[in-house]
Amino acid sequence: MEKRIINFSPPDISELEIEEVAKALRSGWITTGPRTKLLERRLAAYIETGKNDIDCDTEENIKRYSNRVVCLNSATAAEELNLRIFGVKEGDEVIVPAYTYTATDYAAIHCGAPVKFIDIQKDGDPVTHMPEMDYDALEKAISNKTKAIIPVDLGGIVCDYERIYSIVEKKRDLFSPIESDGTPLGDLSSRIQKSIGRVAIVADCAHSLGASRIIDKKRKYCGNIADFSSFSFHVVKNFTTAEGGASTWLPIKNVDNTDIYKMYQLLSLHGQNKDALAKTKIGAWEYDIIGPWYKCNMTDIMAAIGLRQLDRYLVLLERRFEIIKKYDAVCAKLSISHLVHHTEYMDSSNHLYLIRIPGVGEAERNQIIYKMAEHGVATNVHYKPLPMMTAYGKDCSAYLNSYYYYHNLITLPLHTLLSDEDVDYVCDMLQEVVREVKGC
Ligand SMILES: Cc1ncc(COP(=O)(O)O)c(C=O)c1O
Repeated sequence: MEKRIINFSPPDISELEIEEVAKALRSGWITTGPRTKLLERRLAAYIETGKNDIDCDTEENIKRYSNRVVCLNSATAAEELNLRIFGVKEGDEVIVPAYTYTATDYAAIHCGAPVKFIDIQKDGDPVTHMPEMDYDALEKAISNKTKAIIPVDLGGIVCDYERIYSIVEKKRDLFSPIESDGTPLGDLSSRIQKSIGRVAIVADCAHSLGASRIIDKKRKYCGNIADFSSFSFHVVKNFTTAEGGASTWLPIKNVDNTDIYKMYQLLSLHGQNKDALAKTKIGAWEYDIIGPWYKCNMTDIMAAIGLRQLDRYLVLLERRFEIIKKYDAVCAKLSISHLVHHTEYMDSSNHLYLIRIPGVGEAERNQIIYKMAEHGVATNVHYKPLPMMTAYGKDCSAYLNSYYYYHNLITLPLHTLLSDEDVDYVCDMLQEVVREVKGC
């Protein structure tokens, strides 16, 4: 068979994105501006309805979808701002699955909050096989210091948020909201904590834009489920702005969405109360600094890519699903367990295709990865559990389910530049290499 070169996750950039970026470059406005604001409204509309073609420039929709999504330069920034807005700080505790990417947890570490890892369920969720937290362990881990839980929609599969909500509701009595410290951020966080009145669910939706789950008999899209959510538009994600991300949150009783949105703006722009666009108004040079904060805004060049990606997004998701079906078929043939991306109650965003090869150890798994690469097929591992990493002490003994899940895991290439022939080639190589390594 002729060798093919299969990359792991190259970006799918069409002429539409290229033209929109050129238009942004020619427009005279390339930092945060009208394209970023439009992308924010369109993402808000998409997250609410699942539709990517709602006209967000009408007066009615400008009103309806403004101040609900904030576009930023990464999911890492989005998650940290979510925690900052909720008022997580030193001495608080944040609960994170041991099985995730490091950005999930160091947003909390950057806020000064110690992280409590939770192991995953053995072999993951029984239906989707997603390495989802052990919810009994989660319930036990919540203490009077816990301020937030960060569930991760790994691979685009939506966590069991109904279960997580029921756990945090049960633990309401342990939660004490902070009092205002008199600063604008401290005052907002106190109002938010008093209104929510329990541990916040701050979802890591880096992989799950467009994924949905039936909750209370209604289809809810990620971004519209947890109290706060963060998305990644990094180049390897389904939807990209090269680097980039977004924060969103559910409406909070007695707290105006505009106040929350403005605080995200302040946090992402040096705490400066006027952005570059506002300062272009005649005589409007003067600004104030409200707090010594961050610089993590999205530019209009990035938003230009995002606008055209969003136009194409449903088609991109569908193509990913076609590839998943082919992978499902080969896995069934080889009795390989894999993520189940679509169930009666959940449709994932088809982001990652994780498989676990039965009867192999870490060394053989690595051999399979190596041999696939020799055949031109790039694969990956999502993830090595965080406790195994140097920065976390290299000790996974308290998270054995996470280790066990990881030890025979491989992620297959899943992206929209793969042709049907490419996918068939990956399937053929997988069969050949697995049989070779397992000696059967
Ligand atoms: C689960 C998860 N969370 C957060 C991030 C961080 O995303 P970003 O690179 O946009 O900061 C990633 C990135 O790969 C991720 O996989």
